[in-house]
Amino acid sequence: MEVIIQPTADEAAHLAARVIAHEVRSRPNSVLGLATGRTMEAIYARLTEMHRNEGLSFARCHTFNLDEFIGLPPDHPGSYRKVMTDRFFSHVDIPADHIHFLNGQAADLTAECEAYEAAIRLCGGIHLQLLGIGRDGHIGFNEPLSALQSRTREKALTPATRRQNAFLFGGRWEAVPARALTMGVGTILESRRCLLVATGEEKAYILAQAVEGPITAWVTASALQLHPRCTVIVDEAAAEQLRGKDYYRWIFENEPEWAPFR
Ligand code: GLP
Repeated sequence: MEVIIQPTADEAAHLAARVIAHEVRSRPNSVLGLATGRTMEAIYARLTEMHRNEGLSFARCHTFNLDEFIGLPPDHPGSYRKVMTDRFFSHVDIPADHIHFLNGQAADLTAECEAYEAAIRLCGGIHLQLLGIGRDGHIGFNEPLSALQSRTREKALTPATRRQNAFLFGGRWEAVPARALTMGVGTILESRRCLLVATGEEKAYILAQAVEGPITAWVTASALQLHPRCTVIVDEAAAEQLRGKDYYRWIFENEPEWAPFR
């Protein structure tokens, strides 16, 4: 795992967008794992700008979103499919049949999850998985005590997670569905590269637990410590409680891999 600290949330989002763009340019048929949440909005806005102004094309990419609420129609303003369409897919050149989403209205949710895993395998696996972190330490909707080898499945959401998503439901946390489908922690760990982005002081405590704390199902993002290629991009506010800040800064300033991004 490596941690890159940027001065502001905007700069963190821009760097994350550059890492994704670099992946897509070097492998135009990349399979991207995508995430939702407020942190992601500036990343998708920057990627959209790069598509418009710098010729970045997603025409040969496939995408798999991490998670979706159960029971919402795809055009509901709170559904992640609708959020992704409005904020990203409708602004870039990715073909509709390259966009993969869990269907939270499927009659057989277990079969839906199995089919999603099969679709990921059929595409050759995920090259780059973008991730946010929930205030309870979740990745995707892998709430505390999700098995660290879990696969795509149904999960009950914590009240904290429902509150975190209330902005998509007119600020009413009770309106946020109580259950969701999510890629499992084990599914996420199989992607070839993980990119976790966290910004803001409200993420500082849980980020330090995930990055520097013990690997525990209580904080499912801590499982990323097991991943051979995981990059964590944060702003100064989210980095506040990290013990290794000086070392992380040295790595970013000196390792040749990061030269094009400095
Ligand atoms: C939701 C998503 C997570 C995401 C989290 C972060 O709960 N299911 O995948 O990491 O939001 O949200 P935010 O960026 O708004 O803090």
